[in-house]
Amino acid sequence: MAPLDQMTVRVNSRKTVRSSHDLAVNGGEPLFAEPLHVGRPNIGNHAVFLDRARQVLESQWLSNNGPVAQAFEREIERFLGVKHCIAMCNGTIALEIATRALGMSGEVIVPSYTFIATAHALQWQAVTPIFADIDPVTHNLDPMAVRRMITPRTTGILGVHLWGRPAPVEALQEIANEHGLRLMYDASHGFGCSHKGQLLGSFGDCEVFSFHATKFFNTFEGGAIVTNDDALAEKTRLMRNFGFANYDQVIYPGTNGKLTEIAAAMGLTNLQDLDRFVAVNWRNYELYRKGLSQLRGITLLDYSETERNNYQYIVAQLTDDFPVSRDRLIEILHAENVLARRYFWPGCHNMEPYHSFYPHAGLMLPNTKTVADRVVVLPTGSALNEGDVRGVLSIVRAVAEG
Ligand SMILES: Cc1ncc(COP(=O)(O)O)c(C=O)c1O
Repeated sequence: MAPLDQMTVRVNSRKTVRSSHDLAVNGGEPLFAEPLHVGRPNIGNHAVFLDRARQVLESQWLSNNGPVAQAFEREIERFLGVKHCIAMCNGTIALEIATRALGMSGEVIVPSYTFIATAHALQWQAVTPIFADIDPVTHNLDPMAVRRMITPRTTGILGVHLWGRPAPVEALQEIANEHGLRLMYDASHGFGCSHKGQLLGSFGDCEVFSFHATKFFNTFEGGAIVTNDDALAEKTRLMRNFGFANYDQVIYPGTNGKLTEIAAAMGLTNLQDLDRFVAVNWRNYELYRKGLSQLRGITLLDYSETERNNYQYIVAQLTDDFPVSRDRLIEILHAENVLARRYFWPGCHNMEPYHSFYPHAGLMLPNTKTVADRVVVLPTGSALNEGDVRGVLSIVRAVAEG
């Protein structure tokens, strides 16, 4: 198998970007021969996975809490230092099951600056998401904004560890305790990231991961609820399997949230390569950090040097002195085959059904708007080598220097 950083798209050797005259939007050819995506999957050792896949086929046990799924859960528990992992078919279903199992109802406070699944999971369970504003520096929920959104109908808080950077877990726990609220986290971005040395997964009543293909750690599609609460673990385990307590007895309104054996086999394989994935992401992040620090009008969201991070997201933010708008920068990058992306724009509150429900929600979400309007996420991951990152930087530099 090729080393991770050799599975790459190469820079077009006939072109160098030295100034804005060289840009493809001005008539030149693209710098990259093939598209550079923000999220190409991190895939572990192919031979190891194929061997596990063969064993799954030979066992003729493909789903329904099979031995590979169970082994996967025990590995996740060990890795995260949490008592229970309940593996699921995806993160969205895991969020829905957690919402049900925690008994959330009425209103639950969430950030608007997150992937739409965070809000939809609540709505799909007939719980109303109430959007609170974020801190413009951390991009995570602002505890003061959360306090402002509490009403007699509030039953919980759903925090998000955006970009893998921890939500303000102590402040949110204090609010939850004060008001008797449930507290869970959408940790979809945060696998392998820590807060005060503790890996995300143990905070609040429970935390939910997505193991989608584009996440730092994937099982093709997949997810999990992790918790230290024995009763909650038992309930979510049953809800994942239609609510069956045994062959003939159903004790909860459940759904089908089971993780397949083949997906668990992918998970076990990828767990063995986490250090390699982090190393590549960290190298790319450092290159971007150094490259962007020399430019006017653009900053890079940083990851704490004293915590563990997966460095899965390269989040740049434009300030007013960048010479072009965020959307124009994205157009310029796309013309070079760099598929940089706006993220979570224009905020969940501007998407349906929420926009129709609360057309004026934006009045309470000024920081969400500022951040959503300025963020551009750049490609990283094992599909990019150093030359690719330097290529992306050369384009941004040419734009920044006009
Ligand atoms: C913050 C966040 N929440 C929830 C999800 C949903 O996870 P899944 O795609 O596994 O359903 C994702 C990603 O897809 C996400 O980024």
